[in-house]
Amino acid sequence: MGKPLTDGMANRLSDEDLLAVITEGRSGTGMAGWGDSFSDEEIFDMATYVRALQGKAGLNLADDNAGISDDPAVLAGEDVFNGRAGCVNCHTYRDQGGSVGPVLDGLSGRLPAAALSEALLNPSASIVSGFGAKIVEQEDGTQIVGRFRNDSELAVQLQSSDGRRWVTFFKDRVKLIIDSTESLMPDVYASLNALEQQQLLAFLNSL
Ligand code: HEC
Repeated sequence: MGKPLTDGMANRLSDEDLLAVITEGRSGTGMAGWGDSFSDEEIFDMATYVRALQGKAGLNLADDNAGISDDPAVLAGEDVFNGRAGCVNCHTYRDQGGSVGPVLDGLSGRLPAAALSEALLNPSASIVSGFGAKIVEQEDGTQIVGRFRNDSELAVQLQSSDGRRWVTFFKDRVKLIIDSTESLMPDVYASLNALEQQQLLAFLNSL
């Protein structure tokens, strides 16, 4: 027999965690995950049913953009994007976010699925035009990497990879300025768990 769904434990789970328990199961408890057998919608319905048994109105997932999507996977993916994965530090969507990487509005329309997974899994394989990085090596040997912004006869300007500063380097005062073959985008996607990756993809595909 399973634990009653109305016990304190299930009551205290956040809606996101409840969805995760149903989707992934719970290790060490014999509760299997249902993510492979049911669609996101069906899992959402199950979680809503659990809340009904607990006498609650339904699921209340965090949503800064009410009305834009009510798909729980998309909303959870948006949380991953803005939270744990930190994508929003470099990418803007719906007018919020950073400017080191490309704006992601309309992404699903312009990037086929294969190109999207390559952009996430292997960012340096092909670098979006205009978003390349340069490496400046200073006289003392320290290297600075940033998004290449401007070039003139006298100076080169880089945006720091956290996006916060634009720094000008005078060409006659540095040792070397070279194009980087590495993307400024870190390998964060690979470090997410399978559910987070799936949610993040659902969110990106909604853009
Ligand atoms: C430190 C900054 C940074 C972070 C953090 C970052 N990216 Fe990027 N991203 C970039 C840059 C710069 C590019 C463009 C260069 C390239 O093609 O790799 C890019 C490219 C992309 C592209 C390809 C866009 C296009 O128009 O083809 C996608 C999709 C993307 N990032 C998604 C993400 C997601 C999702 C996350 C979070 C898991 C993330 N990025 C985290 C900097 C970042």
